[in-house]
Amino acid sequence: MRELRHFLDTNDFTKEELLNIINLSLEIKQSIKAGYNPPLLKGKTLGMIFQQSSTRTRVSFETAMEQLGGHAQYLGPGMIQLGGHETIGDTGRVLSNLIDIVMARVIEHKSVVELAEACSIPVLNGMSDYNHPTQEIGDMCTIVEHLPKGKKLEDCKVVFVGDGTQVCASLGFITTKLGMHFVHYGPEGHQLNEEHKAIMEANCKISGGSWDVTDDREKALPGADFIYTDVWYGLYESEMPKEERVRVFHDYQVNREMMQRANIGCKFMHCLPATRGEDVTDEILDSECSIAFEEAGNRLTAMRGLLVYFTQYQREQTPSQLKKEAAKEQLEHFMSDNDLV
Ligand code: CP
Repeated sequence: MRELRHFLDTNDFTKEELLNIINLSLEIKQSIKAGYNPPLLKGKTLGMIFQQSSTRTRVSFETAMEQLGGHAQYLGPGMIQLGGHETIGDTGRVLSNLIDIVMARVIEHKSVVELAEACSIPVLNGMSDYNHPTQEIGDMCTIVEHLPKGKKLEDCKVVFVGDGTQVCASLGFITTKLGMHFVHYGPEGHQLNEEHKAIMEANCKISGGSWDVTDDREKALPGADFIYTDVWYGLYESEMPKEERVRVFHDYQVNREMMQRANIGCKFMHCLPATRGEDVTDEILDSECSIAFEEAGNRLTAMRGLLVYFTQYQREQTPSQLKKEAAKEQLEHFMSDNDLV
């Protein structure tokens, strides 16, 4: 049993811890593929707070709980008291007495931090305006499964193309933590900021990885093993009109010409949803080099690993200090004393 920990940011974890989560996720995937669903979450309940809509995150968390013997409760917008006069902290204190683990997709990152500070159960960040760490565990599972022949993670160059979204930042964080080579190739005004750069620099000092943020195509793309993109406007910014998006990001569409500048065999990744014809062409998204839909499938791989990893801790508010046998005996006495059996 380990101490209570939350999964708000991959930067709170060492390289070894992140590799443990990735490997655990892949081990469970293998087990399920071989026909054995280990009941690792038997009797556990996950609360899923969503302040925003979601396809992949919601479905993968719920499916992961079911496959491993647990149960998930969808707490979507307007379904719980959150947003009224009850604070997110008070919501967290209540949930800590009702369920075993909680995930939250929030509008502002400070909300998931406040939730974690109040909770005595693990909190997993299902995406905020700052980052998207569960996406990154799935992405790294996908990269591990598609490593170029003869290369280790540390040999790979990952280029994120386009807007410096929270997915871009998170990809920069995890790749540099793992000792990989990360480039954000994006237009000025939409690049990762100084805070992101400082984090990547600190990661690289320890891991031996490298990072760059540039709008220089000639520098960014050669040698790429993975090209990754996201939509052309942050999910939480007011949406840019289409004409403006096309003007700013025109040169950053992932298309055949861009893929040809990378290594032979370079894979295309996308956190999805994609805007076909904007951030990526149909030709690339549907091509042999695209692993974007496998990547979406590995959201489930990641959620299983994360849920198992973070529920293996010593619960602070143990419902009963009784040992299993003593608890059973006491319950049986209660039932018979009250004519319930
Ligand atoms: N990539 C991702 O988080 O997708 P959803 O918004 O559908 O969850």
